[in-house]
Amino acid sequence: MLPKLFHSSGRLLGRSVIRPGERYVSSISSPASLNDFGKQHVTKGLARISDGVMARGQGSYVEYLDGKKMLDFTCGIGVTNLGHSHPKVSKAAAEQCMNITHVQCSIAFHEPYLRLIEKLLPEMPHRSLDSFFFWNSGSEAVEAAIKMARVLTGRQNIITMQGAYHGRTFGAMAVTKSKTVYSDGVAPLMPGVFSIPYPFWHQLRLPPSTPSSVLTDECLYQLHLLLSQQTSPKDTAAIIIEPVLGEGGYVPAPKEFLEGLRAVCDQHGILLIVDEVQSGFGRTGEMFFIEESGVRPDILLMAKGLANGFPLSGVVSRKELTDKLAPGSMGGTYAGNAVSCAAACAVVDAFREENILQNVKARSQELFAFLNDLKQDQTLAQYILDVRGRGLMAAMEFASSEAPGAEFDPATPKALTVKKGIASRVAKKCIEKGMLLLTTSVYEVIRFIPPLNISQEDMKKGCEIFEESLREVVREGI
Ligand SMILES: Cc1ncc(COP(=O)(O)O)c(C=O)c1O
Repeated sequence: MLPKLFHSSGRLLGRSVIRPGERYVSSISSPASLNDFGKQHVTKGLARISDGVMARGQGSYVEYLDGKKMLDFTCGIGVTNLGHSHPKVSKAAAEQCMNITHVQCSIAFHEPYLRLIEKLLPEMPHRSLDSFFFWNSGSEAVEAAIKMARVLTGRQNIITMQGAYHGRTFGAMAVTKSKTVYSDGVAPLMPGVFSIPYPFWHQLRLPPSTPSSVLTDECLYQLHLLLSQQTSPKDTAAIIIEPVLGEGGYVPAPKEFLEGLRAVCDQHGILLIVDEVQSGFGRTGEMFFIEESGVRPDILLMAKGLANGFPLSGVVSRKELTDKLAPGSMGGTYAGNAVSCAAACAVVDAFREENILQNVKARSQELFAFLNDLKQDQTLAQYILDVRGRGLMAAMEFASSEAPGAEFDPATPKALTVKKGIASRVAKKCIEKGMLLLTTSVYEVIRFIPPLNISQEDMKKGCEIFEESLREVVREGI
């Protein structure tokens, strides 16, 4: 039974109607009733994987108001990469709060904004990336990149990848092709968007063992066709890509494919937008995944781990390009918030001082060894189709009738009668057993995004919870 909070007049109720000068006393007295209150008054448009109200977070663990403690293998979807409430990050933010919290970017510079650029410059995957603009969210960074690409090239069309996720605002939604739920009923979307398949075997209906050279050739051929049949290069402003497909299934793009995109962009004066909102900031073992390929982005996007939980995104390009933007054409009330920038400065310091990338590599080896062992396990092998990813952005895909590519592959299991839903059943079991874990994509995929500084002990614990959950789901029948 929900507590009664409103008078029929629409005024809030405490004991009864609140009179002028009277203090409002909440009648929500337990964690359960606060949770119910949320269910009643928070839009149904939001979805949640766990029940309850999260109250605290420390390192790799979160605690709910009712005392429930969970190992967090989601990091708030790849955000709290240095763990919850990292002492240096929280301290930097708290100190900034006592100094100045809001310096509007159209009024003046502020120091954390400039110090952050100073710290980020040596971390850029290419030295040409020297001009920065900070906004709040990943979606906003995508909006900025689309706008810049159109303005700087004088062309309209954007090429995106099938399976891509770039966000929920209008431009970002238009270049998102991972699930229809993000744009169902919303059309018309932003025009001028075209897509090609990502070099992911599923999208080409090929087996998981297909060599990356074959996937690359196929997708670059589709790009060639697109540029000659649907959007001519002279109308094409940009190609946008997640170098590791996130919401589309945790698929690292082959180096040759990224090089191929660069070559096409160079040939036609098209801008290459590299969206590292999820894969960036150490997630894959390098500061940015694109570094592995040596490919130069024209515009690099970052967010999520950048400020470890404070809202901040970055749009980085080269001065030679951004000097062509009209002053005032970019901006935003909260763009590059001082507290977020101060937190991000502490994040970059922590990466250096705490050898974060080294930990990612060590824990990644353990995680992949564990997942690949499960793939070889006598009882489980028939249900596991693929283990993939990079660093601590890892995925396990289960066999299902939704994965027809496996039919043609002698090297993969044939458990094609498995019903849809195994991934969410396993994730749900993990949550019941005390670990937050997410699924991803339209396929049966579990994604592992633990903190980048997770201890060996907690990594082992997470793996044990996952294995126990998977075995239980298999025993219960799939
Ligand atoms: C690759 C990528 N781009 C953009 C976004 C959108 O970021 P935000 O949710 O901060 O708007 C996300 C979010 O998950 C993402 O993974």
